[in-house]
Amino acid sequence: MEPLTKKARIEGITSNDKRDKVIAVLENLVLSDGDVHRIMEVMEQQIDFANSQQEEDRKRSDLFWEFTYVQGLLKGDEKGDYLGLDLGGTNFRVVRVTFNEGKAETTTKYYNLSQELLSGPAEGVFDHIANSIEKFINEEKMSSDTAIPLGFTFSFPSIQKSLKHSVLITWTKSFKCTTGLGEDPVDMLEAAIQRRGGLSVPVDVVARISDTTGTLMAGSYLDKSCRIGLIIGSGSNACFVEQAKNFKKFEDGVKTSNQIVVNTEWGAFGDNGCLDFFKTDFDKEVDRTSNHVNSFTFEKMFSGCYLGELVRLVLVKLTNEGLLFKGEGSTKLMEMGSLPTSYVTEVESDGPEETSHTTGVLQSLDLTADTEDIALVQAVCGLVSQRGAYVVSAACAVLLNHIDLPEVTIGIDGSVYEHHPRFHGYMMELLEKLVPGTKVKIILVKDGSGQGGAFVAAVGSRS
Ligand code: BGC
Repeated sequence: MEPLTKKARIEGITSNDKRDKVIAVLENLVLSDGDVHRIMEVMEQQIDFANSQQEEDRKRSDLFWEFTYVQGLLKGDEKGDYLGLDLGGTNFRVVRVTFNEGKAETTTKYYNLSQELLSGPAEGVFDHIANSIEKFINEEKMSSDTAIPLGFTFSFPSIQKSLKHSVLITWTKSFKCTTGLGEDPVDMLEAAIQRRGGLSVPVDVVARISDTTGTLMAGSYLDKSCRIGLIIGSGSNACFVEQAKNFKKFEDGVKTSNQIVVNTEWGAFGDNGCLDFFKTDFDKEVDRTSNHVNSFTFEKMFSGCYLGELVRLVLVKLTNEGLLFKGEGSTKLMEMGSLPTSYVTEVESDGPEETSHTTGVLQSLDLTADTEDIALVQAVCGLVSQRGAYVVSAACAVLLNHIDLPEVTIGIDGSVYEHHPRFHGYMMELLEKLVPGTKVKIILVKDGSGQGGAFVAAVGSRS
């Protein structure tokens, strides 16, 4: 079978000897068709375990396979104001959705969280959230005699107990709060609102959802065929519309509707070693130096918190082997975290004959590069990005097989998908091969996670 590789860009290197040495460093980053199919098989096995009624089986899986308790989409007759909160990525957002004759008008505002808050007690984060809601209410000049329904998009692995209540299992991405584990995010939010003496307009927190569910809700508002809500941002995760009869984990099943939304929590897929067959030394190093060591294997292969660091480690290795930058590099290149994911998307913005974006990035890293260096840096960014898009696509293909419909739209939110100029193309390229019987469309659902929070509030507060 044709190898899934992008070796063409390595062909910019003229010396055969150098090319062989470069290929030896990079070849483990290239997935074969066999690897891709094995990822799909392994994921299906993990789903079986996660979906089992036996606790022993469930413990063998890295997936959560959570029932979200979201059992309906917008009907089109919604009226009035709803709020959504979005906590989980680089920015905290407050979203207002006003329904006017079936149309949703959305206002989103960002309230940055400082690094200090992300590693302090959770109360600090929740106080920031409560204060930001108050600011938003004032900036938006909101008023209401009754409490405004609010959906809280809280994007960390949590066991969902009902639409509103859940228990936080672990912080992820850049969040490393010292408290909060084992607690209910909605309780923490309500306590913070009380601590500040309430809000000038009362809110009624009706739901806690994950950003994937928010994206699915917002995606299905844009496109009726949307069945998967996917995040490729700081972290990654996916939810999808599953037939209720296939959700076997609950002894009595789910009888309230035929279709349900399942949150896979696939970020930790592979933590039990099931993806070790293609893990590289670069992946191991990213894990070793990350905030959450020995966990979140899958998301560390491509999401925004890690993609740049992966590329940096590959460049360091090539430099140390004398294959890049005349073996010298720069102090900056050697510093952990000095190559953010935005630099990778920048390099990937150069067309086949272009170098200007790459040169800009190399200058920011104080690197002096010749033509071959530039070509090689482009090849590395391409390979690491392509591998990332391929592993996500393999996992999406598994969900598409579950959905089993002729036409499915995948709604995606998140900085990597939004800003990376080639991620979409890489994903489509592989999905067309993996699920030839399904017409797959991928759409950007910008700010869908927070908007979806407000949508779920509208659906959840329906009388
Ligand atoms: C979290 C998920 C979340 C995803 C995308 C992951 O780190 O575990 O709950 O949905 O990031 O934000």
